[in-house]
Amino acid sequence: MVKVITYGTYDMLHYGHIRLLERAKALGDYLIVGITSDDYDKTRGKINLQQSLMERVEAVKATGLADEIIIEEYEGQKIDDIRRLDVDIFTVGSDWEGYFDYLNEYCKVVYLPRTQGVSSSDVRAEKRKLRIGLVGTAIFRTKFVNEAKYVNGVEVVGIYATTPGIEPELINLYYTDNYDDLLSKVDAVYIISKPENHYKHCKAALIAGKHVLCESPMAYTREQSKELFQIAEEKNLILMDAIKTAYSTAYERLILMAKSGKIGRVVSIDAVCTSLRDGISIEGTDLSKKWNSMCGWAPAAMLPIFQVFGTDYRNKVFYTLFQNKEENVDAFTKIDFVYPQGVATVKVAKGAKAEGELIITGTKGYIYVPAPWWKTDYFEIRYENQEDNKRFFYQLDGEGIRYEIVAFAKAVECNRNLSYVSKSTSEAIVGIIEDFNKRLNMTELT
Ligand code: CTP
Repeated sequence: MVKVITYGTYDMLHYGHIRLLERAKALGDYLIVGITSDDYDKTRGKINLQQSLMERVEAVKATGLADEIIIEEYEGQKIDDIRRLDVDIFTVGSDWEGYFDYLNEYCKVVYLPRTQGVSSSDVRAEKRKLRIGLVGTAIFRTKFVNEAKYVNGVEVVGIYATTPGIEPELINLYYTDNYDDLLSKVDAVYIISKPENHYKHCKAALIAGKHVLCESPMAYTREQSKELFQIAEEKNLILMDAIKTAYSTAYERLILMAKSGKIGRVVSIDAVCTSLRDGISIEGTDLSKKWNSMCGWAPAAMLPIFQVFGTDYRNKVFYTLFQNKEENVDAFTKIDFVYPQGVATVKVAKGAKAEGELIITGTKGYIYVPAPWWKTDYFEIRYENQEDNKRFFYQLDGEGIRYEIVAFAKAVECNRNLSYVSKSTSEAIVGIIEDFNKRLNMTELT
């Protein structure tokens, strides 16, 4: 029996795929199709597939051409598969001509002519693009514009700000100082205005029927965030917190591991986020233009706490060093949370520096994420016996912003918040900012 193997992503299965599978099958008696896992595709830079692995597997299965389907999960797996499954012929389309010649050592390699005029990328691109408008002037807007270029199906079309952006990334964007004008030209907005304006900008966009991706915190009071979610729900719109950390694969995995008992029962979470680069302690800085330490850092720092312990904390206290109290600018804030099952601390600063690490303490071991943990591709699970320690690495491109844009576009498309940051987490973050602004349970450092 001649065994043939072929590999691919098979997103939005099209006739080019089917013709390839038919000809692959005809090369022998038994056809094995390797379908790439979502993670493997991510590491290959294919980030915005329209279909999940299961959907892609089902589609290939439905062709009736595959005798066996396997999942391709890592670089170098092809050699393993060919040996293990006793494969005689490896085949792929001619777009890969020459690329897999190294497999000749293990089996025969055949490149089949690629069907002209169709590809998954084309099928994806045919769909109408999600037009996104930028709102505000915070520094991450240029990163967003750059990262959006990697995501097909979205297009950043314009920007609303009080002054035009001078950054080269923004030059070709339509600029307006009239918010309604921008809203009339887009399907969605990414809000990066000053935190005190987030609520106003979110609300106007939702009322205008636009989807919203908003830097956290999306509002200044619990009541406001409730209202925003209510409008979004009534109008069937996506309202999502833009906390890029939530979209890093390493971060997602470490949270799952913490929750699944890998380090025993979690008793403490300590998250530190500081930076002096966009510092607020520099003489002569116009403080009114700066995000304070709490708004700039606390949403990301609180994320693992709310995701592991939930949002029902029993108590919390703030310890704050103000740089300018009238302007609500804190140079440093520490928050202590008490939960029935454990404790947590957040340390955030734009006017002080510390090691930006995340430690999740459990009864059997701990998860350690080195600085800067909020854009992590790596973490360790450490135990008393060092030989049991494990290290984990996952590809992270564009600090997670790219994946965040993909998640937002997907949420809009399937009309469902895929909840990397759940509504309750978003609301809890806003609640903390509200209490900070009210100086509730706060000890000021002098
Ligand atoms: N293929 C083909 N003819 C096409 C498209 C794909 O023969 N018009 C073949 C590829 O050469 C590969 C297999 O189908 O052997 C799976 O390809 P895949 O990468 O999943 O599909 P593409 O449409 O090329 O996807 P993309 O546009 O995302 O690269």
